[in-house]
Amino acid sequence: MGTRMQAVPELDLVIFGGTGDLAMRKLLPALMRLQQDELLPARLRVIGVAREPLTQAAFQALAHDRIASYQGKHFDPAGWDRFVGHIDYARVDATDAASFDDLAQRLQAEPQRDRVFYLSTAPRLFSTICDQLAAKGLITERSRVVLEKPLGHDLASSRDINDAVGGHFGEQQIYRIDHYLGKEPVQNLLALRFGNALFEPLWRRESVRDVQITVSEELGVESRGDFYDQVGAMRDMVQNHLLQLLCIVAMEPPASISADAVRDEKLKILRALRPIEGADVAHKTVRGQYRAGASGGKPVPGYLEEERIKPDSTTETFVAIRAEIDTWRWAGVPFFLRTGKRMPQRVAEIVVNFRSVPHSIFGQSAESMNPNRMVIRMQPDEKVELHLLAKQPGDVMNLQPVHLNLDFSQSFKSRSLEAYERLLMDVMRGNLTLFVRRDEQEAAWRWVEPIMNAWKASTDKPKPYTAGTWGPAASSALLGRDGLAWHEEI
Ligand code: BG6
Repeated sequence: MGTRMQAVPELDLVIFGGTGDLAMRKLLPALMRLQQDELLPARLRVIGVAREPLTQAAFQALAHDRIASYQGKHFDPAGWDRFVGHIDYARVDATDAASFDDLAQRLQAEPQRDRVFYLSTAPRLFSTICDQLAAKGLITERSRVVLEKPLGHDLASSRDINDAVGGHFGEQQIYRIDHYLGKEPVQNLLALRFGNALFEPLWRRESVRDVQITVSEELGVESRGDFYDQVGAMRDMVQNHLLQLLCIVAMEPPASISADAVRDEKLKILRALRPIEGADVAHKTVRGQYRAGASGGKPVPGYLEEERIKPDSTTETFVAIRAEIDTWRWAGVPFFLRTGKRMPQRVAEIVVNFRSVPHSIFGQSAESMNPNRMVIRMQPDEKVELHLLAKQPGDVMNLQPVHLNLDFSQSFKSRSLEAYERLLMDVMRGNLTLFVRRDEQEAAWRWVEPIMNAWKASTDKPKPYTAGTWGPAASSALLGRDGLAWHEEI
């Protein structure tokens, strides 16, 4: 982000988990689009790595078929033809040292190239992979490693992963991905907050009544039952994506856009989050699990009936939390976080609700006049809206809400990069600003862990909600206790 960085050098991008879902659905398609926009280094080599014994041609064919089937009519055969020449393959079994030899030879044949190792495997393999890369002498000063979530199951396991990777790579070489930070409107929020003097005086407890961060999904657990049942919404979404969004909204202006200046400010917010422990957990958090209902007009099964889910599972598919940040700027302002599967719509948005006017001259009560909010939408559309009241044309003073709308697709001609495109570019250029530093990640675990522990110790089960609704009734009640309502309920 910011100024264009140094030209991308000659580079080898090695993707462990090369035949996996992330590589096929996100990484290779993102690289393909970057190639179309001529943003890839001419001498980029993408080496897919997996256990299957595949030739380069067989891997290319596999990638072609998988990407074409995911993208359907959006697949661009000509774009593929231009991109495919970058793709190579190496067979590696992470637990077998000798199987790294072939990869090592290929990388060492071109020692002048930067190396990016993208670890998109089960995290329990991260340590072994890093040990092997080090043993083969493949980690140079100009190497980077990209870590995909989940980075651990709790604070202790995330520390183990960080220690293992950190034993071979310096922190400046470690890129922990949170793809929400790569979404265009998230960076636009930084631009709006710190590129305009207008909002700064309002961005504080005196003017902000509450903040709501929602990431809802229409989908259920799909084919990821095995994984999801051990993880749940708190680890899958809140610990990372939602807390990162909260940091971007709440952080103090950093001194610069440099990686550490931004990450220092985010860390201060994570550390200032008031702990939710003991009896508070029942008051300030809601966990839910979907029951059979409807999605997209069709009946869908409940979570417990999904494939590869334990029939008595207490894994949460919905979380709502009332968080507070103990700083001068935010004391007393509730930050509501909410995420869930099988909700009515796929929405990702941040809503900053401003306080009502102190006194109304228009006949209605001042409290009922709280129209001012900023809505930063990441999904389904990308836009920022400012909600105001204005007079409806006519002979009477009739106030109506109006939305000042910054719609990115209309305001700017250039295509916005998708999250993985931007983040891959940043890795290739060596820009860490949009990646999560170790201390941030651990601070986030430190805050969510007591909540998860209290849920585990409780005899209460997650509250049921019907698939296709906005979650359990307790989620509305969470805001109701403050006299507030979720954005879509207003
Ligand atoms: C991932 C989660 O990190 O984010 C998934 O593991 C979730 O469960 C996904 O579906 C949502 O991302 P996006 O960009 O589609 O909102």
